[in-house]
Amino acid sequence: MKILVIGSGGREHALVWKISQSKKVKEIYAIPGNAGMQELAQTIDIKASNIIEIADFAQEEKIDLTIVGPELPLSLGIADEFNKRNLKIFGPTQMAAMIESSKIFAKEFMEKNKIPTAEFATHSYPSDAKEHLKKANFPVVVKADGLAGGKGVFICNNTEQAEAIVDSIMVEKKFGKAGERIIIEELLRGQEMSFLVISDGKRAIPLVSAMDYKKIFDHDRGPNTGGMGAISPSPKSDKNLYTIIMKTVIIPTIEGLRQEGREFRGVLYAGLMITPEGPKVLEFNVRFGDPETQAIILRLKSDIVDLMEGAAEGSLFDIPVEWDEKVSGCVVLSSKGYPSKHETGMKIDGLERAKSLGVEIFHAGTTVKDKNYYTSGGRVLNICALSSNLKDAMKKIYDAISFITFDNIYYRTDIGKVKK
Ligand code: AMP
Ligand code: GLY
Repeated sequence: MKILVIGSGGREHALVWKISQSKKVKEIYAIPGNAGMQELAQTIDIKASNIIEIADFAQEEKIDLTIVGPELPLSLGIADEFNKRNLKIFGPTQMAAMIESSKIFAKEFMEKNKIPTAEFATHSYPSDAKEHLKKANFPVVVKADGLAGGKGVFICNNTEQAEAIVDSIMVEKKFGKAGERIIIEELLRGQEMSFLVISDGKRAIPLVSAMDYKKIFDHDRGPNTGGMGAISPSPKSDKNLYTIIMKTVIIPTIEGLRQEGREFRGVLYAGLMITPEGPKVLEFNVRFGDPETQAIILRLKSDIVDLMEGAAEGSLFDIPVEWDEKVSGCVVLSSKGYPSKHETGMKIDGLERAKSLGVEIFHAGTTVKDKNYYTSGGRVLNICALSSNLKDAMKKIYDAISFITFDNIYYRTDIGKVKK
């Protein structure tokens, strides 16, 4: 088979790595890809948002299956364009992807389908939002409706803070159109869990659970990022909880979407808070998590292509999925300053020595020149390992990291440590 992967992060490098182990696969292409994947895939310089050019490429190259990493092309309708041309694609249509691309759509959908989530209100005018805030119980969470690259969510402790956020989103238009409407919701407390399933629109096969570390600084301090590390399984994971999540969240979501004519084929990622009253949905994503995928994939023993093909074709019957009982971890090495302004172009050293300790290294923001790697983004590298216990996995990862150097390197030193 010829496979095309869209995206350029650590998630996509991990997907390419796993796909390359499939006996069915002859060639892999990545659009636009990254420097780390180049040993496994041919990278093609097309923007991930350029869905027509990507579909033209897939048609000309007779790609058998296309896998979409990031949400942007999905929200722009890449799956619809591929379906129109009879090209096989793993990823939901634009209508189904709305469960991520509009948080208000997602909240109203959950309300309608009785899926547990935080209490909320939506607002289209800053004056209404401010009126609401006068009577609110703090803390509250303020969210932009549309896609904001994981940066559109704010926990506010008092009225002044919340009003300033409302102004920055709705008046100063920090996120452009994505902030035309907002949600103000109840703050949920508990432990977060990322729960991902692969669905063909009717059935859903759960992946092993994971937990990511979203805050930039140790001990979960500072602003949210895309994710600074992950472990799998999530410390909260147990069979009973799995059954509850499938019953109260996943199955009603897949079924509710299908009934609205938004059949969901791809990865549905439920970002959950495990509260004392049970799991509640913080958000849905319509794609693999980054860096959760890097940790999850290390534990997958089965052929990932079978799963993705089954989902894309709507024939995900009884595909047996085998998982490694071991525990995995992933630590993100970033450029100092991320998630805000940061410098790039720094030479990276020590990768071979780090790899010799038995870790997997997935690239994100890197470029290659004369066989040397340089930083080219906020999140740069993902150092990942599998072991019989979490402590060993994390030790292997941090030992490997000690060999890696680049100017302005920054990473969390507490990934794998779990809040009690
Ligand atoms: P979202 O994009 O909606 O998942 O929000 C990003 C992150 O903000 C989540 O992973 C949580 O860490 C946090 N968050 C969002 N909504 C809430 C909430 N209602 N209560 C507590 N934390 C939240
Ligand atoms: N790590 C969080 C996400 O992928 O959205």
